[in-house]
Amino acid sequence: MAATRKVNDLISIEEIGAIALICIDNPPVNATGQAVRQGLQEAIETLNSEGKAKAIAVYAAGRTFVAGADIREFGKPPMPPALPDVFNIIEDSAIPVVAVMHGTALGGGFELGLSCHARVGIEGLKVGLPEINLGLLPGAGGTQRVPRLAGIPMALDMALSGRQVSAKEALEKGLIDRLVAGEPREVAVQVAEEVAAGKLATRRTCDLNTPKDDKALDDTAAMLKKTQAHMYSCHKIVEAVRASYLPRTEGLKIERQAFIDSMQTPQRAGMIHAFFGERAVSNIPEAKGPTRPLEKVGVIGGGTMGSGIATACLLAGLQVRLVEVAEEGLKRGIATITKNIDGAVQRGKLKAEKRDAVLGALTPSLNMGDLADVDLVIEAVFEQMDVKKDIFTKLDGICKDGAILASNTSYLDINEIAAVTKRPQDVLGLHFFSPAHVMRLLEIVVPDKTAADVVATGFALAKKLGKVGVRAGVCDGFIGNRILAHYSKTASYLVLDGASPMQVDNALEGFGFAMGPHKVGDLAGLDIGWMTRKRKAATRDPAERYAGDVADKICENGWFGRKSGRGYYVYEGGATVPNEETLAILDQVRAEKGISPRSFTDEDIVDRYMTAMIVEAARVVEDGTARRPLDVDMVFLFGYGFPRFRGGPLHYADTIGAKALVERIEAYAKEDPHYWQVPAILARMAKDGGTFADLNKEG
Ligand code: 3HC
Repeated sequence: MAATRKVNDLISIEEIGAIALICIDNPPVNATGQAVRQGLQEAIETLNSEGKAKAIAVYAAGRTFVAGADIREFGKPPMPPALPDVFNIIEDSAIPVVAVMHGTALGGGFELGLSCHARVGIEGLKVGLPEINLGLLPGAGGTQRVPRLAGIPMALDMALSGRQVSAKEALEKGLIDRLVAGEPREVAVQVAEEVAAGKLATRRTCDLNTPKDDKALDDTAAMLKKTQAHMYSCHKIVEAVRASYLPRTEGLKIERQAFIDSMQTPQRAGMIHAFFGERAVSNIPEAKGPTRPLEKVGVIGGGTMGSGIATACLLAGLQVRLVEVAEEGLKRGIATITKNIDGAVQRGKLKAEKRDAVLGALTPSLNMGDLADVDLVIEAVFEQMDVKKDIFTKLDGICKDGAILASNTSYLDINEIAAVTKRPQDVLGLHFFSPAHVMRLLEIVVPDKTAADVVATGFALAKKLGKVGVRAGVCDGFIGNRILAHYSKTASYLVLDGASPMQVDNALEGFGFAMGPHKVGDLAGLDIGWMTRKRKAATRDPAERYAGDVADKICENGWFGRKSGRGYYVYEGGATVPNEETLAILDQVRAEKGISPRSFTDEDIVDRYMTAMIVEAARVVEDGTARRPLDVDMVFLFGYGFPRFRGGPLHYADTIGAKALVERIEAYAKEDPHYWQVPAILARMAKDGGTFADLNKEG
């Protein structure tokens, strides 16, 4: 006879003969919020005080086991009972407890499993300690129990990479005891009965000793000091894992303190903003409505961009027609796509046996007429308005009714492109970032007349491709490139006025960017910026200080960066060294302009660069190009290498505060009042005490 009773709304106990099942039911991902912690503690204590059950199995309802602590509670006053205390109560239970895990057991979820006396995985299970991605470390025994079960190298690997470990690997490494197929409750009944009958061995994880491995700890600590000096929690992970040599109480105390300290850092706040921002960004009115069919995609243009887009679509299981004007271009496109797909196999992103089928979904063509039956066309030819208009005029005559006509333009006016068609409601901007099959950002640019279901389909496409779609309005450069065009001038002004390109790069790399702006310019090709400056020359405001003198001269020498072997740096034999000739050009330009170089501290450099970024980002929010500050933040995290632990430019702006930013801008404006102007939105915030986070809540 089975009897079920509720401990609270989220936890229930079911008794079947000599066994008891504890079920966690807290959708969507069974996070261990206060009520779950309380309920689990009460369930274990009740069953132990009643003393009837011979074995307990803990399982979860819904699509997954427990995804960890409830992240929404972070940064708020802690509410007892604390997770490590609950897990100690489970580990100390006189009645053996077995965890039955399905889906993903992550962070506090996996730590729950580790505190049980045996762990059974259901096929497809993945386990992990992803706290590092939130600027944290495992804070409920993960650093103490994983090394006892699987050794120090595995514990360091899991906690420092945050990767999801397959059930097969978890079994091999001793993190789970058994891997079975089945439905969680049925498996829970079966294994609890086996435990009760002594057929499935149980033991307390903390009764085991961590096998000594000081070398792994020392080597990792030294490596992190070199490569991750600015990150907080990774160093604490090594300290906490080292503490697993100690008895449970002492080790957990060290882990707990490290967890609490990490929780206080701005890095934690930035990374949690990134976590929720990534999910909130698709929360836009149109995305709730219907979408259009999305199976066959046409891509026009077999260059780097078009091939990357085609690759992304193929990897997502879509049928792709690739159209080029000439045989040679088409062959080059097919070769690039094949190389990209092979690369995906090598990187483990695609199973080798699926390679041919994925490539088989590609139909190359020299005839635009072959796009008659596709659901979506993405035009990815070079950035010339008349060429794009010609293509869209043709597509208007070729494509079926209801097909979405998209342009991958990175700055052109899509309203103007839409106007050449008789169906502007079907026209959309889909701005991919290079390499398009790797970079996660997709700006979904919405012209004036676009239908809501077309926008919704843009977001559905982003999801299908595993990308982060961000809604943007039409303007020169949309969200990302418009902001970039503004703040990159600061880097040039700093260099003209006295900093070296290398100092600017080093300062910004110290702030957390993977590469400084001059290295990025060399990588992307300096000719791109050169072309843009030439394009904008006629419309440039004469009052604006020109930022391109040095870069123009470098380009006139044919130095376009890495692809030509030199730019700001010289690239020879795998080494990157400053280009002395560029530095000589810089001296010459300064002399011509009568600039006496002055010195900037690294802090000055970061402050000016970041303030310029924030200024234009604020304007982008103010004029509605971005719906919310978080949309700007996600563009920069996923498309521009902005350090994730800083949360994005406008999250970072809140850490400085509007008042301090306005004061900074006013001080810089004394040197250049045209460039440094306080955006109205920031002036209002400085006056009223508002923040960008407030606008996120409203939006
Ligand atoms: N706490 C609170 N909410 C969470 C959550 C968590 N741990 N994990 C996910 N959610 C929410 C998401 O915000 C989302 O909410 P929304 O629908 O309102 O946008 C919803 O659950 C579904 O999440 P996803 O859209 O991400 O669903 P997926 O199916 O794509 O992915 C997942 C599921 C793999 C579990 C993914 O959500 C995930 O990686 N979650 C975070 C896991 C994690 O970082 N755990 C560690 C937490 S820290 C910790 O445990 C500390 C401990 O050591 C003390």
